[in-house]
Amino acid sequence: MSTAIAAAEGAAPAPLQYLQGFGNHFATEALPGALPQGRNSPQRCPYGLYAEQLSGTAFTAPRQTNRRSWLYRIRPAAVLARPFRPLAHRGLAGRFEGLSVSPNPLRWSPPPIPREPADFVDGLLTLGGTGSPDSHAGCGIHWYLANRSMRDRFFYDADGELLIVPQLGRLRVATELGTIEAAPQEVLLIPRGLRFRVELPDGQARGYVCESFGAPMRLPDLGPIGSNGLANPRDFQTPVAWYEDREGEMELVAKLGGELWSAALDHSPLDVVAWHGNNAPCKYDLRRFNTMGSVSYDHPDPSIFLVLQALSDTPGVDSVDFVIFPPRWLAGEDTFRPPWFHRNIASECMGLIHGVYDAKADGFEPGGASLHNCMTGHGPDAGTFERALSADTRKPQRIGDTMAFMFETRTLIRPTRLALELPQLQPDYAQCWHGLTKRFSPPAAQ
Ligand SMILES: [Fe+2]
Repeated sequence: MSTAIAAAEGAAPAPLQYLQGFGNHFATEALPGALPQGRNSPQRCPYGLYAEQLSGTAFTAPRQTNRRSWLYRIRPAAVLARPFRPLAHRGLAGRFEGLSVSPNPLRWSPPPIPREPADFVDGLLTLGGTGSPDSHAGCGIHWYLANRSMRDRFFYDADGELLIVPQLGRLRVATELGTIEAAPQEVLLIPRGLRFRVELPDGQARGYVCESFGAPMRLPDLGPIGSNGLANPRDFQTPVAWYEDREGEMELVAKLGGELWSAALDHSPLDVVAWHGNNAPCKYDLRRFNTMGSVSYDHPDPSIFLVLQALSDTPGVDSVDFVIFPPRWLAGEDTFRPPWFHRNIASECMGLIHGVYDAKADGFEPGGASLHNCMTGHGPDAGTFERALSADTRKPQRIGDTMAFMFETRTLIRPTRLALELPQLQPDYAQCWHGLTKRFSPPAAQ
């Protein structure tokens, strides 16, 4: 029995091993000598393995953005027992054209873990999205609400790269390229098309998924910050090669073109004995983010909180940004310290992983979400505003108990009909600003 399956059954899991660095060209083998040397596709691979390339960018993408890995596996990915057939799903939406979008701010309480059995794939619930998989632009935004480990079921997403943000319970993700575990306050990046299953060491799990249809996520340029800071490359961890040689009735679920498909397999697709390349999954602990902020006055733009970005074709305008609001010191003097009131050209979907978000005193709970589309006015609620007015800004203030994040897009995030019908949608959200009464007091007329 494989280590990953044993862990799902409660046995002591073997410590996982990781390789360090973001987007490095890694080389790893689970059996000595399994990785061919000196060429990618020898006439005969060691141990009778098949060579297979998994590309994450166009073959001719510039070298600094080119992503691909070479996999040495027991059977090629082309081997299926029966072809794909459409698979129905209750909560997943894959297309967003035609969904209406309103200028009202929206906020949801955390959706509950379902009572009926649901694994990671069953438990996907789409909040909304933008763009389309066909055009390789935009993203889908989902919750996952799961109470069952995947065992003989595997998933891959041809529509996008998955940025998985656990909020409740750990995920142990066994992928073709190795096993990776993430707890709340860590995030996972799963490349487009990589096959994996998700096990739940804690029995249940809730979190968020940004399914980015466009360019692979990368670390942002740092400009005048210099060569260090924000998310440091060496803190990203990629699993070492691991495989299982397991046969039986199994299922492979694929997402392509916004739809789910199911095919029968007679073996585990997690049979890659060795691999090399830079198209690989990784995880990152958000608590390692090197947060920047003002030490004089004014709250900087939230671009200083950027962890990862998916570039668009327009320089300086990203398709998707992943931004966090981590624990930090506020030191701005004579400054309104919470995030200021704003209307942005970008659209913002926020979630809360842990603690309290400093712009909203109430109603924004871990596992919940908010959506502020292009030019929708928002900012601190009335209570937060009042407290900030009377704060002593001669002393630094610690925001300690928090980990909020944002998926920010250049195009409109259209909520799904199902998300708008959820009982967790808060009908009174906009009332959090009703207490911001008129404070204007011009000089009395002479
Ligand atoms: Fe905002």
